[in-house]
Amino acid sequence: GETITVADLAAKLALKGGDVVKALFKMGVMATITQSVDHDTAALVTEELGHTVVRASENSAEDALLAHVEDSQSDRVTRPPVVTIMGHVDHGKTSLLDYIRRTKVATGEAGGITQHIGAYHVETPKGVISFLDTPGHAAFSQMRARGAKLTDIVVLVVAADDGVMPQTREAVQHAKAAKVPLIVAINKIDKSDADPLRVKNELLAEDVVAEDFGGDTQMVELSAKTGVGVDNLLDSILLQAEVLELKAVPSGRASGVVIESSLDKGRGPVATVLVQQGELKKGDYLVCGVQYGRVRALFDETGSQVEGAGPSIPVQVLGLSGVPDAGDDFVVVEDERLAKDVAQQRDAKRRESRLVAQAGNRMEDIMAQM
Ligand code: GTP
Ligand code: MG
Repeated sequence: GETITVADLAAKLALKGGDVVKALFKMGVMATITQSVDHDTAALVTEELGHTVVRASENSAEDALLAHVEDSQSDRVTRPPVVTIMGHVDHGKTSLLDYIRRTKVATGEAGGITQHIGAYHVETPKGVISFLDTPGHAAFSQMRARGAKLTDIVVLVVAADDGVMPQTREAVQHAKAAKVPLIVAINKIDKSDADPLRVKNELLAEDVVAEDFGGDTQMVELSAKTGVGVDNLLDSILLQAEVLELKAVPSGRASGVVIESSLDKGRGPVATVLVQQGELKKGDYLVCGVQYGRVRALFDETGSQVEGAGPSIPVQVLGLSGVPDAGDDFVVVEDERLAKDVAQQRDAKRRESRLVAQAGNRMEDIMAQM
C-alpha cells in the first residue's frame, strides 16, 4: 500500500522528526526519520500527536494520504483540570477525596450509590474538576514512567497536627520532577493540636513557599472531617487551572489514557479511561493498549450511562476485546479492521520486546554464574 517517510510526515505536521519518531516508538513502531511507514500507521500517529486526519479521495497517491492534516491547535478550548492527591500516610488523602465525592458528585439513578471507577469529576458553580482516585506515589510514578501525563495539579495533603513527613517530601519531589504545580491542603485543622503555621515553615525547607510568605504556592487550611475549607480548596484548584490555560480539542476522535481496568464476570473487560482529546462516544472503534473494540456502553462515576465524554472527563468503557493495562493509551480509529490490525501489531511488538528482555535476563543470569 501507500507509504510516507517519517521526515515527510513530520513536515506535513509541522513537527520535529524526532517527535514523530518518539510517538511512533510509543506506539511500538521502530522507525528512523528516513524510513517509511504505511498509511494506517501514519494516520494513527498523526492522531496520537493531536492532529485530525482527513482522508482524501480513494485513488490519489502519497499526497492524498494526509492531504488535509488539520492543525487542531486552533480548535482548542479550555478543559477541566485533572488533579491527583498525594501526601504522607494517614494525613487524610482518602478522607478528603471521600468528602469531595460525597458532597459534590451528583449521584445518578442507580440507587444513588457512587461507583468506584478510579476517577471522578465534580461540577462546582465555578467549573469542573476531575480527580484521579489513585492516591499513591507508586501509581503516580508508574504512570509517569509510562509517559502518561495525566495530572495537571497535585494537591499535597499535610496534616496540621503532624507536619512535613518523609512522604510529604517525596510527593514534593515527584511533583517537581513532573513539573506539575502543587497546592497544599493543610488538613485536620479541626484538631486542637493543629499548627498550620508550623506546616508552612517546614515546607519552606522543601522550597515550597506559601503566598503569604511571599511565595507562589497556594495553601488552603481545611478539615476533611468537618468539611471546613474544602470549597476554598476547589476554588484554588480552579484558579491554578486558569493560570495553566489548559486546552483540548473538544470534539472529533477521542484519545486518552487508561486509569483502571478489570474483568467483570457479567460485563467483560471494563476500563476506566480519562479522555484527553476529542469526544469518546458510544459506538466508537478504538485501540486501547494491545486491545481493541467498539464502545458498547459508557458509564460515569455515578453508574449512569452516558452517550459521550469529552476532555478531562473519566468514563468507564465496555466493549473491549480484553483487559488493558493502567497507563495504556487509547485512540479512536475509523473502523474495526484498523483497530484490530493496530492492536495485533502492537501485541506482536510487545511480545517481541518481552522475549528480547527475557533473553537479556537469561544472559545476565549466565554471566552472573560465570
Ligand atoms: P493512607 O491511605 O493510609 O496513606 O491514609 P490517608 O492519607 O488516606 O488518610 P485517611 O483519610 O485514611 O485518614 C487517616 C485518619 O485521619 C483517619 O482516621 C481519618 O478519620 C482521620 N482524618 C482525616 N482527615 C481528618 C480531619 O480533617 N480531621 C480529623 N480530626 N481527622 C481526620
Ligand atoms: Mg488512604
